[in-house]
Amino acid sequence: MPIEKYHQQVAECTAILRGRLSLTPSWGIILGTGLGRLVEHLQGGDSLGYEQFPHFPPPTSPSHVGRFVWGHLAGVPVILCQGRFHLYEGYTPRQVALPVRVMAAVGVRNLVVTNAAGGLNPLFQAGDLMLITDHINLQGDNPLVGRNVEGWGPRFPDMSRVYDLELRKLAEEVARERRLRLRQGVYVAVKGPCLETPAETRMLRLLGADAVGMSTVPEVIAGVHAGLKVLGCSVISNVNLPDAMAPIELSEIIATVRQAEPQVVELLLGILERQAQAG
Ligand code: HPA
Repeated sequence: MPIEKYHQQVAECTAILRGRLSLTPSWGIILGTGLGRLVEHLQGGDSLGYEQFPHFPPPTSPSHVGRFVWGHLAGVPVILCQGRFHLYEGYTPRQVALPVRVMAAVGVRNLVVTNAAGGLNPLFQAGDLMLITDHINLQGDNPLVGRNVEGWGPRFPDMSRVYDLELRKLAEEVARERRLRLRQGVYVAVKGPCLETPAETRMLRLLGADAVGMSTVPEVIAGVHAGLKVLGCSVISNVNLPDAMAPIELSEIIATVRQAEPQVVELLLGILERQAQAG
């Protein structure tokens, strides 16, 4: 698709969302697999299903509702993506990044990405939270491929500091205060939908990754391109050890994430509370 057409699509989706928004969200939060309950803490606001947006593809992933929800969290105006798009669904990186483009266009300056991920670091346990310190893009694709839209961001975005250091420090402080165990590490994104073989798992660990998943990186790249501050948090839903691989069931992944979800909610609410205090 020519970039002009995509640009037009973003503009149309932005107009639809803007027409419904009752606030200007400064934070955008993408909720990954099994993570939806943050919406229960929203005050005021409303929601709009992705089906109301002509260029949003239908979400096909289990446990991804597919809607924007907005309101105040700890006094901060936020917009949440309940459900996201993935490359393994057959969507293009630009389609996957569409919600981020739209959120940036309505005023979001801080982007929080969450996901369920497989642990590669043998010290991790299922149910752990991992603050993403950096990523490796092994998806073989990128939402910025094609002509650059100069109004959105630079042709060659700097990726030396993708995950904002101040936001990471804030997350660490909140975790310490609230006694949440917060691991840290590198997220590697693969295309999926297959889970990894033992040989692939060994390779990903050797490459320097602590967790593997099938999402997040396209949205983060679009976010960096748009100049957003990015914070990423994975829930380690399973731990993959190449010499002792166990079959992974989606239902187990979702069950583990749901168990860890209150901690994710507490971490994010804590971060937003501190943000509200800082004014
Ligand atoms: N691999 C890839 N993606 C995942 C995994 C995994 O083990 N667990 C949750 N998402």
